[in-house]
Amino acid sequence: MKKAAFFGIFILALTFVACNSGTGSSKVSSDSSSPFAAEVDSLLSIMTLEEKIGQMNQYNGFWNVTGPVPAGDEAANKKYDHLKKGWVGSMLNVRGVENVRAVQKIAVEETRLGIPLIIGFDAIHGYKTLSPIPLAEAASWDMEAIKRSAEVSAAESAASGINWTFAPMVDIGRDPRWGRVMEGAGEDPYLGSKIAMARVKGFQGDDLSDPFTIAACTKHFAGYGFAEGGKDYNTADFGSSTLYNMVLPPFKATVDADVKTFMNSFNVLNGIPATGDEFLQREILKGQWNFQGFVVSDWGSIGEMIPHGYAEDGKHAAELAANAGSDMDMESYLYVEHLAALVQEGKVDEAYINDAARRILTVKYELGLFENPYKYCDEAREKATIGKEAHQEAVLDMAKKSIVLLKNENKLLPLKKSGQRIAVIGQFANDKNSPLGSWRIAADDNTAVSLMEGMAAYPDNRLTYALGAQVSVGPTSFVMETKINEDDTSGFAEAIRVARSADVVVMNLGEVGWQTGEGRSRANIDLPGVQQELLEAVYKVNKNIVLVLQSGRPLALPWADENIPAIVQAWQLGTQSGNAIAQVLYGDYNPSGKMPMTTPRDKGQIPLYYNHKSTGRPTIPAPNLVFWQHYMDESNDPLYPFGHGLSYTEFKYDGLEVNANGDGSYKVSFTLTNSGAVKGKEVAQLYIQDVTASVTRPVRELKGFELVELEPGASKEITFNISDAELGFYNNDGEFIVEDGLFRVFVGGSSATQYSTEFAR
Ligand code: BGC
Repeated sequence: MKKAAFFGIFILALTFVACNSGTGSSKVSSDSSSPFAAEVDSLLSIMTLEEKIGQMNQYNGFWNVTGPVPAGDEAANKKYDHLKKGWVGSMLNVRGVENVRAVQKIAVEETRLGIPLIIGFDAIHGYKTLSPIPLAEAASWDMEAIKRSAEVSAAESAASGINWTFAPMVDIGRDPRWGRVMEGAGEDPYLGSKIAMARVKGFQGDDLSDPFTIAACTKHFAGYGFAEGGKDYNTADFGSSTLYNMVLPPFKATVDADVKTFMNSFNVLNGIPATGDEFLQREILKGQWNFQGFVVSDWGSIGEMIPHGYAEDGKHAAELAANAGSDMDMESYLYVEHLAALVQEGKVDEAYINDAARRILTVKYELGLFENPYKYCDEAREKATIGKEAHQEAVLDMAKKSIVLLKNENKLLPLKKSGQRIAVIGQFANDKNSPLGSWRIAADDNTAVSLMEGMAAYPDNRLTYALGAQVSVGPTSFVMETKINEDDTSGFAEAIRVARSADVVVMNLGEVGWQTGEGRSRANIDLPGVQQELLEAVYKVNKNIVLVLQSGRPLALPWADENIPAIVQAWQLGTQSGNAIAQVLYGDYNPSGKMPMTTPRDKGQIPLYYNHKSTGRPTIPAPNLVFWQHYMDESNDPLYPFGHGLSYTEFKYDGLEVNANGDGSYKVSFTLTNSGAVKGKEVAQLYIQDVTASVTRPVRELKGFELVELEPGASKEITFNISDAELGFYNNDGEFIVEDGLFRVFVGGSSATQYSTEFAR
C-alpha cells in the first residue's frame, strides 16, 4: 500500500463545490472582487431581463454592414432589429475598422443603454500576416516565439476592430485523422499547457485595456479532440483518469494564465453534450477552478443538443445550456428566443442570467470598451499595423523554428549554395495558397511566399521546376472539394526528365491547405492523390531526394522513411513559408523543431501516443507464442516518436543524476554537449514514470524541457527541479495526489530516449 499525499487546495475546491451544489443561485460563482464590480452591478441594476439575455446572444455578421439590410432577407432583418433593441451582446466575423464601427455604432448609439459589443473572430494563427498553423508552432517548443506570434495576431486583429479571438484551441490531439489537430499543440498535456499559457499571454498581454491586446478564448471544453475515429464532431468517450490527467490540464493552465473566455464544444462526452454539461462548466470550470470569465457556446452547439438526442426542442436546449453554465449563445438564436420565458416559468434561475451577464460585461469593462467603444476602430492604425515589417519578421522566425528535420542520411542537407543542379518537383513548391493552411479567414488568397520564391534567394544553383502531379485545386474555406487527383500521371514524364539531370531533387509534397481544419478529417493519412507514385517514380531515376512535407497533420509514410534520404516536416508555415523552408534547406537556419505528435507507421495503429499505459503483456516477442502485445502485421513502434527532430549538428547526453534536495523535491542533472560541427539548438526533454501507483501511470510523461543553443564542442549542465507537481497525478476523483515509490527518469532528444535512471521517493 502506497502512502499518498493529498493536496489541500483541491480539497478546498471540492468543499466549495459541495457547499454550492444545490440548485439555482447558490451555484452562481462570479465574484465581486473585480475592479469593475461596482460599475457592472450598477449597470445590471438598470437592465431589463431581455437586455441581460441580450448580452448572452452572439450573432454572426449579418449583412453588408456598411450598407442597408438586403430587402427580403428576413433573418438579417431580425438580427438587425435585435441589435437595435440591445438584444445582441457580441458579434463574430465582422472585421475591418469600417465594418466594426458600423455595428458598434448601432449598439452604442441606437440602443437604450448603449452597451458596446464585444467583437469575436477566429484569429487562429494570425489575422492577415499568418504564422504557421498552431500544430507547427508547437513543434518549435519555443514559448517566446509562440507568445510573440500570438502578439502579432492580436495586434493585427485589434487594429482591424476585433477585440476577442477564439483561440487558443487546447484540445489534446492523439488522432492525426482528426482535421483539427492542425489547430492545437499536439498530444501532450504538459507541452500543451505551456503553449496554451504562452498563447494566452501573447493575445492578452499584461493589460487587456491596451489597444493592441485582445481577449483570448480557450476551446473546446471539453473532449473534442477525442472524437471517435478521428471524425470531426463525433462522440467522445473516456474515463476519469484521461479526463483529469490528459484532457483538462491545458484548460486549467489557461485559467491560471487569466484567460478571459472559454468555448465549449460540439461533442458529446460520456453521453452528455459538452454544451449542456453542468459538471464540466459549473462544477469544474467555474467552481473548482474559480474561472471568472464567460463561456461561449460553439457555433450553434446549443441547438445541436436536439439532434444529439439530449434536448427535446429549442426551448429545452436553451434551458439545459443556461443551467449548465453556457453564458453566451453563438448563433443558435435560442437564448434570445426562449430564456425570458424560461426564467418566468422558473425553469432557469434569474441568478444564472445575472451571473452570465455580469461575466460578459466584466470582460467588456476590462477591454476598455465602456471607456471607448471605438478604441479598436482607427483606420490609420489599421493601415500602419497590418502586414508591417516587424510582423513579417516575427512570422518568418516562427516558421523557421517550426520546421522539423525528420531524417537526414549522409548529410544530404543542408544543400550546397552553389554549383548544384536542383530539380524542384511537386504542386506545393509553386503554391502560394496552401502554406496559409486552414483557418485564415482574413488573409488574402495566394499571399504566402512559395518554396520556389524562397529558393530564388539562392541564385547560384540552377533550379528547374516540374509539377509532377496536381493534387487538387483545393477546396475553399467552406466549400467541399472532393476533386483530389486520383489518377492523372501525365506530369510524371516531365518530373522524371528534370530529376534525371539533377544533382539533388527537392520534392515538395503533401496536403492542400484546406485538407485539414474543421470538418476536414481524413480516413487516410498518406500523400493524397498520386503523389506517392510520383515520389517512387522519381526515386527510380534519382535517389538524392529531399522530401519537403507540407501538411497539417503527421503523415504516415513508411516507404519514404525507408528510402528517401532526407525528410523535412514543413507543415503549413504561413505567410513566410517559402523563405523559412529555403533557409533551412540551405543551412542558414539549423532546424531545431521536435514533433508535437507521434507519427504512426500506419493508420491502423491510431491512436498511437507516447504517454500510453503498459499492458500486462510484454512488448518484445515471446518465442513461439502469440500472446504478447503486438500486431501480427505491423510493428508497435511509431514512424517518428513524439519529441523527435534532428539538427545539422549532433547532441550527446551524459552524466545523468538525480539528487534529493532535502525538501521533498529532486534535482535531475545531466550534461548536454554539441558533439557535431555546427552551432545548433536542442530541445532537451525530461520524462518521468511513476512505476507503481494506485491508478496506473503512463510508461513515461514529459515533465520538463529546455531549448538550449550550443556552439560546436560546447557543453552545458542542464538541471530540472522536480517536485510534487511533476511527480503527482489526478486520481479518478480528480484529486491531485503524490505517492511514494519508484520513479524512473529519462532524458534525451525525444520520447524514445532510453537514457535513464531511477530513484525512490
Ligand atoms: C468552431 C469554433 C469556432 C467557431 C466560430 C466553430 O465551427 O468549432 O472553433 O471558433 O466556429 O467560427
